[in-house]
Amino acid sequence: MARKNQTLGEFIIENQSEFKYSSGELSRLINAIRLAAKVVNHQVNKAGLVDILGGVGDTNVQGEDQQKLDVIANEAFINTLKNREIVCGIGSEENDDFITVEGHNDDHNNKYVILMDPLDGSSNIDVNVSVGTIFSIYRRITDPGTPVTLEDFLQPGRNQVAAGYIIYGTSTMLVYTTGHGVNGFTLNPAIGTFYLSHPNMKFPEEGNIYSVNEGNYTHFPQGVKNYIKYCQEESENRPYTSRYIGSLVSDIHRNMIKGGIYMYPKSSLNAKGKLRLLYECNPMAFITEQAGGKASDGYTSILDLQPTELHERVPFFCGSKKMVEKAEAFMAESL
Ligand code: AHG
Ligand code: MN
Ligand code: MN
Ligand code: MN
Repeated sequence: MARKNQTLGEFIIENQSEFKYSSGELSRLINAIRLAAKVVNHQVNKAGLVDILGGVGDTNVQGEDQQKLDVIANEAFINTLKNREIVCGIGSEENDDFITVEGHNDDHNNKYVILMDPLDGSSNIDVNVSVGTIFSIYRRITDPGTPVTLEDFLQPGRNQVAAGYIIYGTSTMLVYTTGHGVNGFTLNPAIGTFYLSHPNMKFPEEGNIYSVNEGNYTHFPQGVKNYIKYCQEESENRPYTSRYIGSLVSDIHRNMIKGGIYMYPKSSLNAKGKLRLLYECNPMAFITEQAGGKASDGYTSILDLQPTELHERVPFFCGSKKMVEKAEAFMAESL
């Protein structure tokens, strides 16, 4: 039972029996994420004081300019997870290929794979706007005792055993689910402890915020254009309010609390959209469904999609259930 002001450490121990396979491994994995989150939080907080702003002068596998903090956050999570030997593989937005973790005595016996977006909202780092980390956890499907394979990472989002995000905002929060609802923990930076501040988070069924990069409007499919016009029309509870930070984590976090829809559709510029299915959309979709919301590619539930490659992109519509359903109706109409 979630109690407000419980520490995350206490919560993990008390809720361990809820995990489908409660060998303690998943608890240790969440604990490792909690630790890495504090390391990254420390770095993000002092970003303006030390020379860790700006780009590294390199491009990642996504074709994006890598920021110094992208690299720092990636290393913090990878090192923390590797050192604790609790996963058998790590996939990251910042790495071309997945990393195999051999485990104790090189026996490849760890059960879980993790996929992550170590620093979400890179373009906001230099301007002191909220950024985040997103993670997604699966049980491997190939037999333990052998090195992890690509197949273990390319599982539909429905198979996730846990997912979450960290938001480095005005306060730092860790929000996660293991399939039993969504709980949010706020970091008390003075003592380095996360406390349960947002038990059982839920998307309002209906909201009045729409979040989309409207600069791309001319390139959007007709269904999206029509839905945006609907959001802007005068009627009972419309026009809706437009809010777009450009950090997926922050945009979804706000919409989960206040009620809203987030959209990153495909466009004539990005044939499959921009967001990554495995590092961004699947974990956010799992959290969203666990919070009573809905996530789709405009037609199909994100969690039902069968991934075909590690860095696959997908259109993303996510948020309050009724709003996403409405957007889907507009998409279907203009097929
Ligand atoms: P990342 O910083 O991990 O590469 O992700 C950026 C993503 C996401 O955070 C955000 O919602 C979106 O890109 C913003 O894209 P636009 O600048 O095209 O709106
Ligand atoms: Mn990026
Ligand atoms: Mn991202
Ligand atoms: Mn990123």
